[in-house]
Amino acid sequence: MTLFSDLAMAPADPILGVTDLFRADPRPEKVNLGVGVYQDASGRLPLMRAVRAAESHLDQDPRPRNYLPIDGDAGYDALTGRLVLGGDHPAVTSGAAVTVQTLGGSGALKVGGDFLKGLGATDVLLSDPSWDNHAAILGGCGLRVGHYRYYDAARRAVDVDGMIADLDAAAPGTVVVLHACCHNPTGYDLTPSQWGQVLDTVAARGLIPFLDMAYQGFAVDVDADAQPVREAARRGLMLCANSFSKIFGLYGERVGGLTIRAADADEAARVKSQVKLKVRANYSNPPTHGAAIVNTVLSDDRLRAVWGHELDEMRDRIAAMRVALADGLRAAGVDQDVSHITTQRGMFSYSGLSRDQMVRLREEFAVYGVENGRLCVAALNDGNLGYVAQAMAAVMRA
Ligand code: LMR
Repeated sequence: MTLFSDLAMAPADPILGVTDLFRADPRPEKVNLGVGVYQDASGRLPLMRAVRAAESHLDQDPRPRNYLPIDGDAGYDALTGRLVLGGDHPAVTSGAAVTVQTLGGSGALKVGGDFLKGLGATDVLLSDPSWDNHAAILGGCGLRVGHYRYYDAARRAVDVDGMIADLDAAAPGTVVVLHACCHNPTGYDLTPSQWGQVLDTVAARGLIPFLDMAYQGFAVDVDADAQPVREAARRGLMLCANSFSKIFGLYGERVGGLTIRAADADEAARVKSQVKLKVRANYSNPPTHGAAIVNTVLSDDRLRAVWGHELDEMRDRIAAMRVALADGLRAAGVDQDVSHITTQRGMFSYSGLSRDQMVRLREEFAVYGVENGRLCVAALNDGNLGYVAQAMAAVMRA
């Protein structure tokens, strides 16, 4: 008998577990539309030109790898805060906003959740549905996880009335996680006027908005996509977790930020001091390389323009793949309405396929998606699209 004798096997992660299954599949025709990782037209994860240029720039002046401060590189923090909120936002110009470098967006959610829990928060509301890991991370901070209505499957739209009714019924001090853009998994975002209604309700009820922005620039552009965060910060207290995984292709570098809008610069300094305690207790301090890349790109006008251009290319390619998939399904004989594939935004299509259909896609056709029906359209290309459309059509017909 050992400590581990009766230990059960943990379930596979609903998203990253799909990648494990995909890797183990020997079928050459296999396609991974599970995890949200962008691939280029040739089916490869690109190393972005701006990132490559920043790395060669960094190589010319190699630095020893000392510990970073607990809250990360100060230049990176300032640039990230300005990318998220905009350089002329009153919270930025007054010093009322602080940004702390984190281990991707996930690290920001954990540190922010720990910080709020330490301040007495007890409950967090997530959209129904939400990114699977939201519940694990924020539940892991000791917050009780509940949901607000979000997706109306029958109408294939956001149930904004249900959402507002649920927020209206929440107790003051409840943390509310809001997807700033490219809602994961549904791809359905609020309109600007719906955002106004939601943020007014959040403020009126004394709820704590915690925005998650993993796809800034994947819907319209970096400024338009950040508007919900900026609007929330105009109304007062707000937290935002942002990630450079997707928009810089820096998935493995774990580079993100936690931005918190306080009342003024003095309060912001105290907030930062407390957030640093949470970072220190989680992972001590963040790593250097990814932040150095982002810092180099965002602080150089030329590299920043190159990066912006690449972001436009990625967004346009995803949009083209959406159109091609919808056309491919129609050509393959699907007579159901598939127009949602082109109206959803971001990396994912919430296909509406059932769990059974997703399992069939995987088992019979080696097309891997998340079992909730989410497919990463950013991993489609001219080489695999026809095959995926045929496979989807086969499971949709049967
Ligand atoms: C996703 O939703 O696929 C990504 O955010 C990757 C992840 O960690 O789940």
